[in-house]
Amino acid sequence: MRLTVIGTGYLGAVHAACMADIGHDVLGVDTDAGKVEELAAGRAPFHEPGLPEILTRNTRAGRLRFTTSLAEAADFADLHFVCVGTPQRPDSLAADLRHVEAVVDGLAPLLTRDSLVVGKSTVPVGTTRSLSRRIAAGLRPGVEARIAWNPEFLREGFAVQDTLRPDRLVVGATEPGTDQLLRQVYEPMLRAGVPYIGTDPATAELVKVAANSFLATKISFINAMAEICDATGADVATLADALGHDARIGRRFLSAGLGFGGGCLPKDIRAFLARAEELQVGEAVSFLRDVDRINRRQRRRTVDLARRLLGDTFAGKRVAVLGATFKPDSDDVRDSPALDVAAEIAATGADVHVHDPEGIDNARLALPGPSYHTDVMDACRDADLVLHLTEWRQYRAIDPVKLSEIVRVPTVLDARNALDREVWHAAGWHVRALGRPHPTPQPERPDGLRVTIPHASGPACAAPTP
Ligand code: UDX
Repeated sequence: MRLTVIGTGYLGAVHAACMADIGHDVLGVDTDAGKVEELAAGRAPFHEPGLPEILTRNTRAGRLRFTTSLAEAADFADLHFVCVGTPQRPDSLAADLRHVEAVVDGLAPLLTRDSLVVGKSTVPVGTTRSLSRRIAAGLRPGVEARIAWNPEFLREGFAVQDTLRPDRLVVGATEPGTDQLLRQVYEPMLRAGVPYIGTDPATAELVKVAANSFLATKISFINAMAEICDATGADVATLADALGHDARIGRRFLSAGLGFGGGCLPKDIRAFLARAEELQVGEAVSFLRDVDRINRRQRRRTVDLARRLLGDTFAGKRVAVLGATFKPDSDDVRDSPALDVAAEIAATGADVHVHDPEGIDNARLALPGPSYHTDVMDACRDADLVLHLTEWRQYRAIDPVKLSEIVRVPTVLDARNALDREVWHAAGWHVRALGRPHPTPQPERPDGLRVTIPHASGPACAAPTP
């Protein structure tokens, strides 16, 4: 089938490449000529495992092309996927629909044949209905365009796998025939047994925000439990394991630590709150405010604990930060808890040294203050404290004996609960984490300090959300 993918950011680039990979003839469209050039040459403009390979394979095979021209897109196919971003508005919690609206407004008058426009971006419930009116107003006489919503659930770092083998396909449409067409598009996935849920547009839009709200709630729930663990000496990791054995709960998304960030979960729960308020049902989802608050509090707790581990002051201290991206296997630093903590500590005047396997360039742009390193040893040399803030696999492979030889003080704060604390402890490290007691009796510190876990207090670390 011939189709276009409008918007080649994270979602669009992966969707376009995967649609070509399952055999469709795909034209990707973006206003950014630089990005179009990169993609057309088979290069991914961001770090995503597996994407360069399928981009190269499909551009070479001639099944995947890119353009900046919406007119070319209108001419190329009758099926258009809209994958542009819906960021948080700068002045409120709501989603900014400017890009989606611009695509619909731009495309409608260019259509010369009956077409189907399928939105994939995360949007507030009710958007399909308003876009459908908008597109109808822009069409040439005699041309018809249907609009449907088909949300995408891909995770960064697993985007290719999530697109080719999704947990489910959800399509919200009103007109008959839309379902049939999309079943054809996704035929290889359906044949492989992926469940297909055909529904109305409002339900489809809601599935996405509800899923992200649920995941965010799960993370904040376990982080709230981590605070209770800190107050009682209980261990949040064991608690999560024990809870997770209950099949009704499940262990995934119960990893306590620095909390969630990135371009989706934080902005999606805020946009959901804003939309619910517009619909006069804000009270129904007011718990999401607490989910957001608990999440941001983990950043502050981490900074507070770091300060205490350094003897209640960052002044004159050298702090090594392992990880800048919001999660491993990504170079994305949008709303990154790790970078937020690094920023807060750097703002105290401490000497902050950051390492990240893939996110250094983006981190440097977002936060110019700290020193950045491509080598873990360089970042940790002479450190008074090592902060483990993003759980990249390679940090778990660090030899703590070797590392202890180059730091000034062997203290590590594992804010992702991902290091093997027994091994680090045995190598002479003082290991701390959120929601977990000491692995074994604390080794003597040169300065004789007793370190206590802080409770949430003091100024917020993350920028306050409007
Ligand atoms: C998320 C959704 O998972 C995905 O379905 C949706 O399409 C987009 O938003 P993504 O933002 O790529 O995907 O990241 P995800 O893997 O969900 O992690 C989000 C954040 O939660 C990360 O910062 C991660 O470190 C954090 N997290 C995740 C935890 O703190 N604890 C956990 O147990 C799981």
